[in-house]
Amino acid sequence: MDAFLLHSRALAGALVFAFGTFLLFPELPCAQQTGITRHYKFDIQMTNVTRLCHTKSMVTVNGQFPGPRIVAREGDRIIVKVVNHVQSNVSIHWHGVRQLRSGWADGPAYVAQCPIRTGQSYVYNFTIVAQRGTLFWHAHISWLRATLYGPIVILPKLGVPYPFAKPYKEVPVIFGEWWNADTEAVINQALQTGGGPNVSDAYTMNGLPGPWYNCSAKDTFKLSVKPGRTYLLRIINAALNDELFFSIANHTLTIVEVDAVYVKPFDTDTLITAPGQTANVLLRTKPSFPGATFLMLARPYATGQGIFDNTITAGILEYRHSDASSSPSSSKKLPLFKPSLPSLNDTTFVASFTSKLRSLATTQYPAKVPQTVDRHFFFTVGLGTSPCPRNQTCQGPNGTKFAATINNVSFSMPATALLQAHFFGQSKGIYTPDFPITPLIPFNYTGTPPNNTLVGSGTRLVVLPFNASVELVMQDTSILGNESHPLHLHGFNFFVVGQGFGNHDPAKDPAKFNLVDPVERNTVSVPPGGWVAIRFLADNPGVWFMHCHLEVHTSWGLKMAWLVLDGNLPNQKLPPPPSDLPKC
Ligand code: C2O
Repeated sequence: MDAFLLHSRALAGALVFAFGTFLLFPELPCAQQTGITRHYKFDIQMTNVTRLCHTKSMVTVNGQFPGPRIVAREGDRIIVKVVNHVQSNVSIHWHGVRQLRSGWADGPAYVAQCPIRTGQSYVYNFTIVAQRGTLFWHAHISWLRATLYGPIVILPKLGVPYPFAKPYKEVPVIFGEWWNADTEAVINQALQTGGGPNVSDAYTMNGLPGPWYNCSAKDTFKLSVKPGRTYLLRIINAALNDELFFSIANHTLTIVEVDAVYVKPFDTDTLITAPGQTANVLLRTKPSFPGATFLMLARPYATGQGIFDNTITAGILEYRHSDASSSPSSSKKLPLFKPSLPSLNDTTFVASFTSKLRSLATTQYPAKVPQTVDRHFFFTVGLGTSPCPRNQTCQGPNGTKFAATINNVSFSMPATALLQAHFFGQSKGIYTPDFPITPLIPFNYTGTPPNNTLVGSGTRLVVLPFNASVELVMQDTSILGNESHPLHLHGFNFFVVGQGFGNHDPAKDPAKFNLVDPVERNTVSVPPGGWVAIRFLADNPGVWFMHCHLEVHTSWGLKMAWLVLDGNLPNQKLPPPPSDLPKC
């Protein structure tokens, strides 16, 4: 664990800072006394990276792929100076960080901020409040997050133990997708033709595809362990478009945390994570040297009708002999075990896995589930079509263009950032506060799809008073096929109080909601042909994006934003933006 801390070059200085704060303001509440400030610098630069025998010049942070690790303790302030040295506009999102009253640092381009243009920089400044576990950061503009992503490791406050046995070592395992092509060209072309975009060439584990791909034997993630120990794997799905199953041969995983919130531990052979989801899992190694090596595999859970990258990334779990003289390389002669993964569309497995996720709900880590609801919302999520422009042929369904919507509104990205427009009272022509709270035309959402699949569009927001307690049911539609949609909400964690298949029944289903220990997270999958119900407290003023974390669906418009108004008290208001906030 302490090895993580060494990565923070700023640690020594930060400690001095924290100590100084303590002396100057002894009356500050505890959280501020214990937190320190950690500085990072992200230079966005082009770097040549080779995978699958294919070298490409791609956008990276500090030339690293995956990008650098952010490490902090709960209560720490993180300051990241992002300098853009590339031609593309960029912005960085700290996925899952609550950003309490720091919406200016949230990152989604044209929502929280205008993008950072070439030659410019922006300082992201935020504090980690009441969160501990694993999150990640990624670019939040177009498809740049294909190569711009990295882990965020949040350790408990100094002296506060984990609510599980202290692991011997902690290892981030971040999944991504490798594309030989330039992903900006891939999505731009798809949006132009209206067809489905190309798929990735490989999945990666810590940036490495593994031995089952071309030229990749040397690009294999190896986890070298000692017998009889407990390892904490910090698992992150940073893939663009694919939910992933993950399994290690002959080993059981214990899930202890998701989306930086502790859960009631449970054992599983296979983990499912959607893009945007993270999980801390304990891996207990065999009590003695097993005389074998074990494959760690990840491959997609795919429910849609389109093509997807149907390949497998493999890493290797190898045991070190307790006798130090024999190196892990001798493992080549050992038998290699392979896990069996659920089938590609095993929705039953996924539903059973997600139903096991429960908040810890103890005195120390309570589940603060809103018990009453001020505002109810019912959103359909799914695909649709938009017309093909005249004089063009389109490659979407029946010669149209693919689109995706929430309540049949395909979100149009504004020309300036929504948060700025809101803060400065300049919403006119940028957004309207009239996002539909239910579908305008109800239909049998999971039955035979309607003939008319045309979508509407607009930049429409839901406006919420400060501290409103919200219940939102998200319902998949069968339009162009049932599909799992991992919905991510910025600025909040929510509680997953219910889920089911078919149409949500407002008369019967709410009685079954779990208001005691539902899992708390920032990204939840709406089951294919089903629904999910979440609750959250709108206690964070600002403009907060909500979208499908399958990037292709976000590009097609499966996104919207919530505007949470200021409260009356000074500490319930969004402060003014930092002076270096980029302009559009
Ligand atoms: Cu991880 Cu709005 O995204």
